[in-house]
Amino acid sequence: MSEQVSSEAALTALAKRYWLPVYKPREMVLDHGKGARVWDTEGREYIDLSAGIAVNALGHQDPDLLEALDTQARKLWHVSNAFYSEPPLRLAEELVEHAPFAERVFLCNSGAEANEAAIKLVRRWAAQQGRGPEQRTILTFHGSFHGRTLATVTATAQPKYQQGYEPLPAGFRYLPFNDQAALEQAFAAGDIAAVMVEPIQGEGGVVPAEPAFLQRARELCDAHGALLVFDEIQCGMSRTGSLFACQDYGVTPDIVTLAKALGAGFPIGATLVGAKLGEVMQYGAHGTTFGGNPLAAAVARAALRKLASASLQSHVRAQSAALHAGLESINAELGLFDLIRGRGLLLGAVLAAPYRGKAGEILDFAAAHGVLLLQAGPDVLRFVPPLTLSREELDEGLQRLRLALRDFVAQLAAA
Ligand SMILES: Cc1ncc(COP(=O)(O)O)c(C=O)c1O
Repeated sequence: MSEQVSSEAALTALAKRYWLPVYKPREMVLDHGKGARVWDTEGREYIDLSAGIAVNALGHQDPDLLEALDTQARKLWHVSNAFYSEPPLRLAEELVEHAPFAERVFLCNSGAEANEAAIKLVRRWAAQQGRGPEQRTILTFHGSFHGRTLATVTATAQPKYQQGYEPLPAGFRYLPFNDQAALEQAFAAGDIAAVMVEPIQGEGGVVPAEPAFLQRARELCDAHGALLVFDEIQCGMSRTGSLFACQDYGVTPDIVTLAKALGAGFPIGATLVGAKLGEVMQYGAHGTTFGGNPLAAAVARAALRKLASASLQSHVRAQSAALHAGLESINAELGLFDLIRGRGLLLGAVLAAPYRGKAGEILDFAAAHGVLLLQAGPDVLRFVPPLTLSREELDEGLQRLRLALRDFVAQLAAA
């Protein structure tokens, strides 16, 4: 069968006709990529500073990932959890070797599913401690994002994701982020089973937790017999320059959830579980058909080998400094940002007052100039490039961004 070449217009029309319209992608159809560059079906080339929302940590077409996938694809694709296969067993072993806080691993397919497993673990653990349903509250924070299943969207303390899905599951309470006093007060109620937190809020605007806040959360969890859950789905896997963001903070969580960069583009999630929780879930307590699929696990093993390397991590720190400096330089010319925040290659540029609400528009200008980025809400430009981004790719991306932002400012002034 000869491959049909379709125009961008024909392909985007398919989305409008057939997809449940829950997404609003940019009107372009990406076709192939290499490193930190992607090309669309019309032949336009882009520097990719979005990496599939912090997923393609090794860029596009990494040769080691390709080889791992190809080798595994020629051996065994899927066995289900009714049988063992080697890749997920080795992946679990290697994750635990790298994660001083973890003893056991549950493999699944996505971030939401990893968090769902964490929530169920918390509830089971609390039940085993003799706590009734009223004593199993999970604290989460305004601006958080934990996923789109009913439980994880309830953990996500942002009403816009929850509206229309009521009744929501019970047992979640929301607090202001980085507010130690509110945290202390919440624990005084005596019903807290866990604190679930992103060390750096991604979707919520690239907002890092303050070290003292996470340290206090750990102390309060210990004092009240509660669990500390870190959602590192966006900020983990060396995105901050350390394999796990908790290592930057010197705080030891009881559970860490991973997805996104774990498979570097192949769907996989994981719930990493510390010593005191290793025996909570017994046979039949939880499961998933595809979790730990040999293809996904083989790719994740190859990704982990590269992402855990000291040289990759020092590259992340160097590129973070260069990206930060490049954004500061653009800002010195155009005065668009109030602040650049984040860590490693998870950076957010917070728009200054005259430009608030216009992040989406800026993304259009950026794409038109050949650079792909993301927003984190209407007021923040989010930069999550491949961690392997070269200096040349970064410089070119920044140059294109500067031109895009000049255009944006000029057009606004003319309006
Ligand atoms: C911090 C965090 N947690 C959970 C999720 C949900 O992951 P997924 O979309 O793979 O279900 C995301 C996705 O953006 C995330 O950023």
